[in-house]
Amino acid sequence: MPPELRSAQWYAGTDRNAYIHRAWMRRGLPRDAFSGRPHIAIANTASDLTPCNAHLGEVAKSVRDGVHESGGIPLELPVVSLGETQMRPTAMLWRNMAAMAAEEMFRANPIDGVVLLGGCDKTIPALLMAAASVGLPAVVVPGGPMLTGTFRGRPLGCGTDVWRLSEEVRAGTLSQEDFTRSESSMIRSRGHCNTMGTASTMAVVAEALGMTLPGLAGTPAPDSRLLEAAHETGQLAVELVAEQRTPADVMTAASFHNAIVALAATGGSTNAVVHLLAIAGRLGVPLSLDDFDRIGSHVPLLVDLLPAGTHLMDDFHRAGGLLAVLREVRDLLDPTATTVTGRPLVDFLDDAESWDREVIRPRETPLQPDAGIAVLRGNLAPSGAIIKPAAASPGLLQHRGRAVVFDNIEDFHARVDDPDLPVDADSVLVLRGCGPKGYPGMPEVSNMPLPRKLLERGVRDMVRICDGRMSGTAYGTVVLHVAPEAAADGPLALVRDGDWITLDVPARTLTLEVDDSELALRTPNKTTLDGFANPGRGWERLYVDHVTQADTGADLDFLTGSSGSAVSRESH
Ligand code: FES
Repeated sequence: MPPELRSAQWYAGTDRNAYIHRAWMRRGLPRDAFSGRPHIAIANTASDLTPCNAHLGEVAKSVRDGVHESGGIPLELPVVSLGETQMRPTAMLWRNMAAMAAEEMFRANPIDGVVLLGGCDKTIPALLMAAASVGLPAVVVPGGPMLTGTFRGRPLGCGTDVWRLSEEVRAGTLSQEDFTRSESSMIRSRGHCNTMGTASTMAVVAEALGMTLPGLAGTPAPDSRLLEAAHETGQLAVELVAEQRTPADVMTAASFHNAIVALAATGGSTNAVVHLLAIAGRLGVPLSLDDFDRIGSHVPLLVDLLPAGTHLMDDFHRAGGLLAVLREVRDLLDPTATTVTGRPLVDFLDDAESWDREVIRPRETPLQPDAGIAVLRGNLAPSGAIIKPAAASPGLLQHRGRAVVFDNIEDFHARVDDPDLPVDADSVLVLRGCGPKGYPGMPEVSNMPLPRKLLERGVRDMVRICDGRMSGTAYGTVVLHVAPEAAADGPLALVRDGDWITLDVPARTLTLEVDDSELALRTPNKTTLDGFANPGRGWERLYVDHVTQADTGADLDFLTGSSGSAVSRESH
């Protein structure tokens, strides 16, 4: 076996160790499996408890065929899977654990490259973080969105329409019975959420980073072209090993630039901010929160998809997908960014047609001229907070109102519908205790449901501020990812009911109108402090002790950076 293959460190030679490594792996592998053929792991997040990824076994089979065909040895490697809708308290609590576990498995095993199969929100970010820290040649196959379901003849955007329908019930405009009836129509097929939520966003972002076959992101899960692309990806993985093209070669500063452009032009999820910061942190690429505003905020919004627009992911794919979008903003891309194919991303744009101008708008007539994510600063968010203007009400982007403060999500649920809650349409709802440390895990609760008494008066949006995240399928004038969070001694812990707060998105400021001298005298009250998590043991303890704040990606401090693929000690 040529020495350049990493797996040869396990399999080459005639000593007892090599004998053991080979003998236990034979089990039907071809005779020449250990003689110079690259061993390709297929990191599979398929799980019955991650329903969005449950079909990845079939995708893995197509990857296997491609690897075999190109002379490699495919080896399926189940990795930690995170089902967004099923896990409590929040799947984000384990993104770093999934990344750490995958990283260690990639490094510990005799593999030369890896194909990453993800879909549901946290799975692609975790796999990319792992691959970045190990540095083995890697390529992503996104599992794809589901087909669009309908209820009473109307398409359903999963996630987004759950929020919409549940608000209708609370407003008294939809019966509980009809709400329940819609449940069986929400999920039409295999695949992940069909809106431009976090899963779709991270597939698009993976492609913009150069980590998928160009043109693949957004291919619906039941579409036969997904299996065709999986097959090709298996072939490509063998080539990646031969070329020793690693994630660090592909995911450069130029690629992150393009990912931010793609995020803005597609109206992608705010969750991509923490995930991109974490992935960049693993690679040592100097990406900051402000880069999202600097690069993305003047990119036009071209994709009319829920939650910001009207269409759904199968429309996006039919209309031409990401490449058709990027072709419209080609001048904003960094042309030096490459892809797993070894060719620059911009090479794939020449024949990227847009087939539906309602779904993918021309550059000249965007849905919004300036999209992206705005980064806010001020005495309420010294390290930054973000807002997605495309998902907000234009009339609330500059707003002054009095705070109505909730110490944690339980406090919020207990009081939000209290008829005596001193709140009106101009109030600013403040929810704390939902950051990485405080919850723990930074859940998607920032898009707080509005007080019932205001819903009944027809109010559909208010300014909301939180140190947590917001579902990529949600919408509203929501300031999120406030850093430092309340549980990390951020000023959010000091806000009191009735304080004036000013949000000025054009000026990029978030201001608590309380003098510094008075703020210095304030301390968090006992209820606030009691709302913060203080786990005694296990992963939650480790997480709370080491998680960083949202503005640096909410990774664990000891996981940033890379350790490479070298294993220093023998096994026996
Ligand atoms: Fe899995 Fe939405 S719940 S992608």
